Amino acid sequence: MKPVSLATLRDMKARGEKISMLTCYDATFAHAMSGAGVETLLIGDSLGMVLQGHTSTLPVTIADMAYHTACVARGNQGALIVADMPFMSYSTPKDALDNAATLMRAGAHMVKLEGGAWLCDTVTQLMHGGIPACVHMGLTPQSVNVFGGYKVQGRGDDAGDRMLAEALAVEAAGAAVVLLECVPRSLAARITAALGIPVIGIGAGADCDGQVLVLHDMLGLHTGKPARFVRSFLTESNDGIRGAFHAYVTAVKQGHYPAPEHGFD
Ligand code: KIV
Repeated sequence: MKPVSLATLRDMKARGEKISMLTCYDATFAHAMSGAGVETLLIGDSLGMVLQGHTSTLPVTIADMAYHTACVARGNQGALIVADMPFMSYSTPKDALDNAATLMRAGAHMVKLEGGAWLCDTVTQLMHGGIPACVHMGLTPQSVNVFGGYKVQGRGDDAGDRMLAEALAVEAAGAAVVLLECVPRSLAARITAALGIPVIGIGAGADCDGQVLVLHDMLGLHTGKPARFVRSFLTESNDGIRGAFHAYVTAVKQGHYPAPEHGFD
């Protein structure tokens, strides 16, 4: 695959080609995913749950993220690498710059932070420091204790209007990408249409510019009841794990995933 850059993602949005993203935590999976055409690999702090066995992402440290980012970078064949900033690693712009620099040195091309308009100064400083930022909005798992559980966000006109305004604010501040998790399909479609930057969704319907899933979910490795938006591609593949990655890319690009039943109203 020709190396994927932020410019590639912008071009894909402009011509309406869907962007595929999967979470990835090690070199072997990075090699297989990027070889199958997955354009963006996310070292998600979901690793706290799926690799480390915690019940939330809160215990994950910047050292954990740097270690897995370096592993992914060694196996990658041209995908854009996005690394999550873990809980409390960006509570001030100075912490954000220092910790994002650690992830970029480990091999990331972009960092992801959870929040909204309160991140604007941080996003601008990261951009001036040469670090593109993806802002994760909607259900932000690091705030699970504030939400009181993993719940759909942005329901109702007021909450939806607020999320759209915050998405426009982070774009104006210099965000490179917005990621929407568990928001109503209609709201995700409004935000995607309003923003010039790519919008990646998970549980946010088919109208986003791209889709992301957690690796273990898309391989059908659930320890509990899977979320509504999860589809297992391994069970549908005739060619094992590599085939599952190809099937996922094809389904995203052809608009077959997510289907209406994977979304929220
Ligand atoms: O950490 C993660 O895996 C994520 C995805 C759910 C988007 O942030």
